[in-house]
Amino acid sequence: MRQICGLPWKNPTITKDGVVTVCCADCNLRLAVGDIRERTFKQIWEGPEITQLRLAHLMGDFSLNPKCRCCRGANYSYMTQEEMALYLKIIGRQDILPSLQGRIPSLEEPQHILLQIETNDTCNLVCDFCDFHNKNPVNDILAARKKVVKDFSMGRMDIGVYKRIVDEVAGYIESCPFFSNSSKKLNMMWVWGGEPFLHPDFVSMLDYAMEKPIYHGGEIDTNAVLLGKNVVDRLMELNLNSFTITFSIDAASKQTYEKVRKGGKYDQMVQNIIYFLKRADEKNFLGFRTMLQFIITPLNHHEVKDFIAFWDKYAREGRDYLFLRILHNGDCEPENKLYLDTLEKHEIRQLKNPKIRLMEPNLFRQNAT
Ligand SMILES: C[S@@+](CC[C@H](N)C(=O)[O-])C[C@H]1O[C@@H](n2cnc3c(N)ncnc32)[C@H](O)[C@@H]1O
Ligand code: SF4
Repeated sequence: MRQICGLPWKNPTITKDGVVTVCCADCNLRLAVGDIRERTFKQIWEGPEITQLRLAHLMGDFSLNPKCRCCRGANYSYMTQEEMALYLKIIGRQDILPSLQGRIPSLEEPQHILLQIETNDTCNLVCDFCDFHNKNPVNDILAARKKVVKDFSMGRMDIGVYKRIVDEVAGYIESCPFFSNSSKKLNMMWVWGGEPFLHPDFVSMLDYAMEKPIYHGGEIDTNAVLLGKNVVDRLMELNLNSFTITFSIDAASKQTYEKVRKGGKYDQMVQNIIYFLKRADEKNFLGFRTMLQFIITPLNHHEVKDFIAFWDKYAREGRDYLFLRILHNGDCEPENKLYLDTLEKHEIRQLKNPKIRLMEPNLFRQNAT
């Protein structure tokens, strides 16, 4: 059986409505364990719902969420053997420990906490493949969220609620009795169903979290359409060390871009990213990465080579990556054929370009247990 995923312990993931779940793959909130508007973070993270979910994972029962069934286990933030032993002692279930033999990885690196926050689920684009902004027959996220959140409508998180979440999670990590001292660092991802730069307070929100002594690094995805010079200049004043920013590009021509990323302006997006990279050159942040991302889809696969040729000119080796990504269908990634065929047809692997990053096919597959 696969190793124990650490996310139900180390990956609080919170929607703009305040619903707390344990994995960024759980867009439809099948693993929701509480609502931050009704209880404190500590009450939720130690509550009966999450204890039940953790025990199910420990017993190898992944039936709660199809994504868990087809996930091979996230490859970040595991519980260490020491932490798991301590956790089970605290909840009075040391009896389970012997049955976990071989399923808790031996780890040398610290396994930090990853807080994922959705600042807004509104967007300035309607991308062809986006589960949030196009109704997906396999996985209707909005219908799923309406079942969990009373009076659900799209919108943004209030900055006061955001600050309370960051304060409570940072405080919880510092005082948590089962996290080892080396794990007690806060990584953050600002994720999910919208364009973060559409939130008028987004840069201040980043800054607020980055000011916490426990903050360690972060990650965002953006379509870059709203990243005008003013916004980029403000970003450059933040602590972007140990930070990754993914630019969703997905095309090498205006025509294709405007079919895939409907509502976006290709020339504006390109200009914004080039300015961003130029400013980042001046700053030289440590551990800073950008992912210039291209999701291979039936509408754009023919432009992969042009995309690489164009962005290779601007990308700096060791910092910027041209990331070719697989399209998913909401729950799993059953259709890798187009991805693999495209890599083969354009002989991408043979390019041996160190800036190109490929996604491992079958990251999510049917019945991974
Ligand atoms: C939901 S978006 C939110 C951030 C931002 N609006 C953007 O487009 O980058 C987060 C990431 O998911 C990716 N994404 C959306 N739908 C996808 C799908 N069906 N398959 C693979 N990636 C997808 C986007 O390209 C983006 O990198
Ligand atoms: S820009 Fe991002 S959130 Fe908006 S529709 Fe496209 S993929 Fe979805």
